[in-house]
Amino acid sequence: MILAIETSCDDTCAAVVTGDAAIRSNVIASQGLIHARYGGVVPEIASRHHLELIDAVIDDALERADVTLDDIDRIAVTRGPGLIGALLVGVAVAKGLAAVRRLPLVPVDHLHGHVVASTLGDNPIEPPFLCLVASGGHTFLASVEDAGTYEVLGQTLDDAAGEAFDKGGRLLGLPYPGGPEMDRLSKQGDAGAFDFPRSLPGDGLDFSFSGLKTALLYRVRDIGEDETTRRRADLAASYQRAIVDVLVTRARLAIERTGARRFAIGGGVAANSELRERIAGACAELGVDLWVPPIALCTDNAAMIAAASRFTAALQYPEYLSLDASARVA
Ligand SMILES: Nc1ncnc2c1ncn2[C@@H]1O[C@H](COP(=O)(O)OP(=O)(O)OP(=O)(O)O)[C@@H](O)[C@H]1O
Ligand SMILES: [Mg+2]
Repeated sequence: MILAIETSCDDTCAAVVTGDAAIRSNVIASQGLIHARYGGVVPEIASRHHLELIDAVIDDALERADVTLDDIDRIAVTRGPGLIGALLVGVAVAKGLAAVRRLPLVPVDHLHGHVVASTLGDNPIEPPFLCLVASGGHTFLASVEDAGTYEVLGQTLDDAAGEAFDKGGRLLGLPYPGGPEMDRLSKQGDAGAFDFPRSLPGDGLDFSFSGLKTALLYRVRDIGEDETTRRRADLAASYQRAIVDVLVTRARLAIERTGARRFAIGGGVAANSELRERIAGACAELGVDLWVPPIALCTDNAAMIAAASRFTAALQYPEYLSLDASARVA
């Protein structure tokens, strides 16, 4: 029985997962509304709220799983990458809990969590597989031969796909985070109304989204505030289409180049309805099996951290007392 803790950004998360991948609880206390008024996550405020919420979130995760700390065999925690102050809250709490009970502690790479989210549940994906992770801070294609690690085949050279959604949303006057709002609004718009660039840098599997964001900025300036408001749904739909086109094009290329038979998506942008639909179409066409995690396992959550911890070496007491959080990929 694994108790996992995730506090890398602005969601305070705890989950109880069994060694054979059954999710007993997956609690997410989102601070989204608190940060919305600032138009983005304020690191210091995120850390303070993690501190206030973490005990209650862990209690809730145990209660919903119908277990107590006595039933927990190991603790898993996100070590990085993320906001350092936010990560430190989770790492300190995990170390404290593990130490008083002399339990093993597993430090987890947050991105490994996104990569292996589909190994949870009753139809778990098994290696080898390819994974597209598109989140607020990262966008990459990875090859997974062994669930304990992943090889990045290509990644964004500038902005992440989620960042493109959020910055685009801000330009359109949508509340933070822009991704879910853009998804909702796009359903009412014409994706062919505006022509936005599809940047496919090099001949490899890298991504680039900063030019797209600039193109939207210029377009909004050209047409003016009133017209932007009037045509917001068309702008959102066209902009989202450009992001999804690029993600699907690169995913197809990765599948063709590697000959992969299994594909998974992960990260907050994997919650996007158009991406979910289009990637399903592409995989069906290529005869590749696709795993699309439920939305609660796409955006930040602790169940995916528990998932990754099953494939990661545990630290024993007292060696983890010197464990530190890491803002960048370790
Ligand atoms: N339906 C959606 N459509 C598009 N984007 C979405 C949707 N839902 C969430 N997102 C985007 O997902 C991102 C958040 O994802 P996630 O929580 O995985 O990222 P993060 O933890 O902030 O970054 P990272 O995982 O890279 O450290 C935000 O950019 C948000 O706008
Ligand atoms: Mg994340």
